[in-house]
Amino acid sequence: MQYKAITLVKRPELKITPDVFETVTLETPALDDGQILLKQTHMSLDPAMRGWMSEDRNSYIPPVGLGEIMRSSGVAEVVESRHDGFAVGERVAGMIGWTEYAVSDGQGLNKLPPDVSAEAVLCVLALPGLTAYQGLMKIGKPKAGETLVVSGAAGSVGSMVGQLAKAEGLTVVGTAGSDDKCRWLEDELGFDAAINYKSEGLAGQIFEATPQGVDLYFENTGGPVQQIVFNRMNAHGRIIVCGMIADYNTATPAPGPNWINIIKRRLTITGFTMPDHWDAVPEMMQALAGYLAAGKLKYRAHKLQGLESAIEGINLLFTGGNTGKLMVEL
Ligand SMILES: NC(=O)c1ccc[n+]([C@@H]2O[C@H](COP(=O)([O-])OP(=O)(O)OC[C@H]3O[C@@H](n4cnc5c(N)ncnc54)[C@H](OP(=O)(O)O)[C@@H]3O)[C@@H](O)[C@H]2O)c1
Repeated sequence: MQYKAITLVKRPELKITPDVFETVTLETPALDDGQILLKQTHMSLDPAMRGWMSEDRNSYIPPVGLGEIMRSSGVAEVVESRHDGFAVGERVAGMIGWTEYAVSDGQGLNKLPPDVSAEAVLCVLALPGLTAYQGLMKIGKPKAGETLVVSGAAGSVGSMVGQLAKAEGLTVVGTAGSDDKCRWLEDELGFDAAINYKSEGLAGQIFEATPQGVDLYFENTGGPVQQIVFNRMNAHGRIIVCGMIADYNTATPAPGPNWINIIKRRLTITGFTMPDHWDAVPEMMQALAGYLAAGKLKYRAHKLQGLESAIEGINLLFTGGNTGKLMVEL
């Protein structure tokens, strides 16, 4: 049987252009003992992919090699099995890549319960929820009554961070790139305030929304919000540095805030990436499933159709065109 996959053939200059990818047609191989054939149904698109396409070998994960299938996580169904641990019809999540089918030995795959939709997996139980949980709960250690600001708040990680913080009794302020996204955060997700970072008087709006100052800043974007919130941090505040998407497509990263406030306010600033925390995934998934079952985590999926929609579609993450967790339905 033939199937399509997409390989990385060039490294992007700045923006991701279609010519960095090539669609290839492959034949499904006969399985060896201990192997399964996966048919991917939903493929996640993530901002981190921009970093994985670059040549930087001094990062937390090696780049995707030229000529290799583009790296991504996804949800798949087992359609053939010569592996004792996997039966045909079971669903799994894992690093599957930009491909319709994949052969696997089962390493790194997590089996999924039949009653949870692929959307719920990719929006909550997989990277967005895990990242939000690790960053907020384990690094930020939130306490009821504190104030949290989260940037990229209407995105897949940011929306989980804000809702987890609300569930823990914090005052939650989010920043996002459109009035519609801000309305969704306030009206549907219960944020105390949401601010369009592209609007006039951003500093004044953030100050007004945080009358007690800021105890926790969950950084997803960089950009203008960063300096304003940094100046608003309370003593012993914690800044969790999860992402800097405003700088992923720029030649020169924006300068950061001066360190003097780290001393004066006794701040803790911690960067993290999820691959350091894979061992804690089962425990975190269980915690997230609890919040989900209790109706405390709402989500929305932004679905593109067909493998090749990823080629242009990935840029929605960088223009803010995605409304919810960006994924491809195959
Ligand atoms: N550390 C980790 O292990 C880890 C894991 C997952 C994700 N992340 C990071 O978390 C961040 C959010 O990722 P996500 O998957 O949840 O994506 P997402 O928020 O669902 O989508 C990206 C969003 O970023 C915003 N954005 C794009 N360019 C921007 C800019 N110049 N300034 C401010 N906002 C901008 C856009 O929203 P607006 O319309 O609001 O501008 C866009 O919708 C990213 O930085 C990502 O790299 C880190």
